[in-house]
Amino acid sequence: MDPLLALRPWEAPEVTSWGRLPMNAVDRRAGALKLDGDWRFQLLPAPDAPVSDVWSSSYVPGVWTMQDTDDLPQYTNVRMPYAEFPPQSPAANPTGVYERQVDVPADWAGRRIVLQVGAAESVLLVHVDGRPVGISKDSHLAAEFDLTGLVTPGERTVVRLTVVKWSDASHIEDQDQWWHGGVTRSVLLYATDPLHLADVTVRAGRYGELRVDCRVRDTGGALPDGWYVSGELDGQLLGQDTEFDRINAEDERVSDFLGEARLRTTVPDVRTWSAETPELYDLTVRLHRADGTVADASRHRVGFRDVEIVGRDLLVNGERVFVRGVNRHDFHPLTGRTVSYDDMRADLVLLKRFGFNAIRTAHYPNDPALYDLADELGFYVVDEADIESHDHAHEIADDPRYLNAFLDRVSRMVLRDKNHPSVIIWSLGNESDYGAGHDAAAGWVRRHDPTRPLQYEGAAKLGWADPGLASDIACPMYAPLEDCVAHALSGEQTRPLIQCEYSHAMGNSNGTLADHWAAIESTPGLQGGFIWEFWDHGILQRVNDGRPVGRGGAGLYEGGVAAPGHRWAYGGDFGETIHDGAFIADGVVFPDRTPKPVMYEHRELAAPVRLECFRHEGIVLGNHQHFRGLDWLTAEWELSLADGGTRTAPAELPALRPGETAAVPLPFELPEDGGEAWLTLRVTTAGDEPWAPRGTVVCLPQVPLRAAAPKRVLPVRNRSVEVDADGLLLHPLLTSAPTLSLWRAPTDNDELGGTAPRWRAWGLDALVRKVVDVRQAAWSVTVHAEYASDAGVVRHTQVFTPVEDGIHVEESAELPDALADVARVGSVFETVAGLDLMEWYGQGHWESYPDRAFGAPVGHHSVPVDELFTPYLRPQESGGRHGVRHLTLSAPDATGLTVVLDEPRQVCVTRYRAEDLTAVGHHDEVVPRAGCVVHLDAAHRGLGTASCGPDTSPSYLVPPGVHRWSWTLRTL
Ligand code: GAL
Ligand code: MG
Repeated sequence: MDPLLALRPWEAPEVTSWGRLPMNAVDRRAGALKLDGDWRFQLLPAPDAPVSDVWSSSYVPGVWTMQDTDDLPQYTNVRMPYAEFPPQSPAANPTGVYERQVDVPADWAGRRIVLQVGAAESVLLVHVDGRPVGISKDSHLAAEFDLTGLVTPGERTVVRLTVVKWSDASHIEDQDQWWHGGVTRSVLLYATDPLHLADVTVRAGRYGELRVDCRVRDTGGALPDGWYVSGELDGQLLGQDTEFDRINAEDERVSDFLGEARLRTTVPDVRTWSAETPELYDLTVRLHRADGTVADASRHRVGFRDVEIVGRDLLVNGERVFVRGVNRHDFHPLTGRTVSYDDMRADLVLLKRFGFNAIRTAHYPNDPALYDLADELGFYVVDEADIESHDHAHEIADDPRYLNAFLDRVSRMVLRDKNHPSVIIWSLGNESDYGAGHDAAAGWVRRHDPTRPLQYEGAAKLGWADPGLASDIACPMYAPLEDCVAHALSGEQTRPLIQCEYSHAMGNSNGTLADHWAAIESTPGLQGGFIWEFWDHGILQRVNDGRPVGRGGAGLYEGGVAAPGHRWAYGGDFGETIHDGAFIADGVVFPDRTPKPVMYEHRELAAPVRLECFRHEGIVLGNHQHFRGLDWLTAEWELSLADGGTRTAPAELPALRPGETAAVPLPFELPEDGGEAWLTLRVTTAGDEPWAPRGTVVCLPQVPLRAAAPKRVLPVRNRSVEVDADGLLLHPLLTSAPTLSLWRAPTDNDELGGTAPRWRAWGLDALVRKVVDVRQAAWSVTVHAEYASDAGVVRHTQVFTPVEDGIHVEESAELPDALADVARVGSVFETVAGLDLMEWYGQGHWESYPDRAFGAPVGHHSVPVDELFTPYLRPQESGGRHGVRHLTLSAPDATGLTVVLDEPRQVCVTRYRAEDLTAVGHHDEVVPRAGCVVHLDAAHRGLGTASCGPDTSPSYLVPPGVHRWSWTLRTL
């Protein structure tokens, strides 16, 4: 029997590898043969099933679960998709066999030849020409195998990669994501000199200190005399550190087998690296033969920076930086786990444009190129090891059989990524309880890389002040804001509090983000956190046959929406019986990377320029960055008048260092004629940034200049208002009269947080209106109605009064005490078809809700009605606009209606009734109505984040008791 199969490595957690080369940070991409493309492929029902003669093909890198096999993606969060206990796997265990021929270049004769498999999930077995080569585990790190002597330069060889889907390792790769199988990153074959650079460790500090440690390894013999190492940093030559050589020469423990050399210099006037100033230097390390010729070389990009924890502050280059982070998975809607360089770059560019400066590589080491991009574009990275044992966390954390795996995964990540300036913190993994395995791994990291802090959320459970050996940071997930603030004020805090996950972005969510940031920026000890998460992991699926579209699907989606006949699949859509539904759709971007409205909220919260306040001498403007001046920005003032239009004027940004403020003169004379007025600073990039062309909006800070004057309603007596026998308003532009609404199509937060089930139990989803009394006065009509819920009767009064050009509606609703915390109190009505454009004065222009309205400036906005709605994967309440003062709905021929509200209100205009949205599970199933469904809310509940984490805060709840609101309806 094949010796690799005989080991049954898929149920042997102690076996983390066999025949695999040590991990290192030498980049071998240049000069390598790329073995990507179609490989011969067959899918076996189990790893020890016989390989047949029947081959199909499969694209590498890629997952077979999204190519032409019957093993489709499956989504589970916490639970394993099968019942076997660790380290066991199910008997039905799809195993992909990949094979291809490779012509080994003739000029590799005499050289060392290495196969690198970028990533394979979850166990990789390698054979060459039928001979066993090696084994590797960890689905998110590369494995290298020495093929020297196994292959013959100038000849053709057959490489076989056998990938077993389920294994002991799956139990520690139980992350909340789709399960796939395949070879997910590129495969390379490369050659080096037998004597080669085995590893290079770069340390570069903020005062320009550079130390480069090189390990030179021979495949057999002794290190030849006279060989040496040199470096070149941005053209400047670096010599070998002779003091280091002298000490080594005198040290009897240092043998000739492993060569070590050090380069050392101090760069004067160094340009330091930070997320704001990602300055990089080019370093080439060369290994020379005695005659000076180059035997091996390694290129690195060096960022000079320090990271340290002082007291309870995490400092980068001595500065307490705010961590505006996001959790990012390697995900793509067409390729599952395989992400291209261009896609990763697009992810990071988008994050930069929306003010993010940090990424947690949730929950495993990402593709190596991601770290290059983070270095280059400027992100602080929490690099996380591939350990999540969620379903069996407690058993595994102290199970000695898994100890090797913990050490292996953490150490190999550190060995791979240690030279990236972007990586500022190591993370031991996610949701794996806390056990001796973690402390063992922590010990290794602390010894190997004393230059970075370490974090582990599981340890934070011991207590934020003393999370034990495994965490230098208090990094809880979804901790209530009050608890964070209380901890920071308690006097007990010992380390920075940076939440590893917070503000769960499932569906219409991320309420109270602004409250988090107000607290973080004003409370020493709080430094930020990582939003959960970047992606909605919707896989593009054909509706007719239920199959994933796969690599050919580019162009089958746009603006967050799948093309007709397609949809974004979530858990259960591939026929899985064990799954966790739409919980996989919880990102700040749609599966095609279209930003959700929360991104605008975030952009504003991260604004580098702030308008602090308006005083008599003018506007106080501040630079809210850590390292940069304002010279990379340009700005324009916008004055927006409720009763007028918008005026603009050029703005000059003062020269401010980080943290400084200055008063700038008010750029406009305010017109005398009363009316609300707002001043906005439209800040854009002054030149091209690597992540944004010149003119890209960076932020839109705003201050109120003048409040609204009280509105007066003047009845006219020569007209009347018409209502029907039930007291329902008759109006030529309305197909459905205004009635009371206490309901919204539940958001994911409403459902999973438990409020929607309560609302349903009260019967709020199907309230029946009963008219009690219709009273016709001289010129107005008063209508009393009742809505009977299971928690008591709601009394609703409407007074319709004719006014100049229209009708004034005064409403009140009295909610019994038992109806505490409903979705909304307001009016809902429907219009005739054809009113396709909404213009309004209020917050916008993107969607906003009471607890997610910081980033939506007040102004005059105009959006087609069809585009007001946000196509969240699972249809739910969406499309709302906060703080609306007045709005117009018009047809192309300028007919239509205007609504003037008594005060800024939450308004929602879409093509959908709440029940249209609750009736379906996917966006492609919602059928728009021809007219508009209009909600004008006296009160609307905040969104919160209760699908995973805290609900909204009490100030955003809708209280019981009497609510009053009024509005005027005019015909255009
Ligand atoms: C966390 C977990 C994440 C994700 C999130 C909910 O507990 O670390 O992986 O599951 O909850 O979406
Ligand atoms: Mg989990």
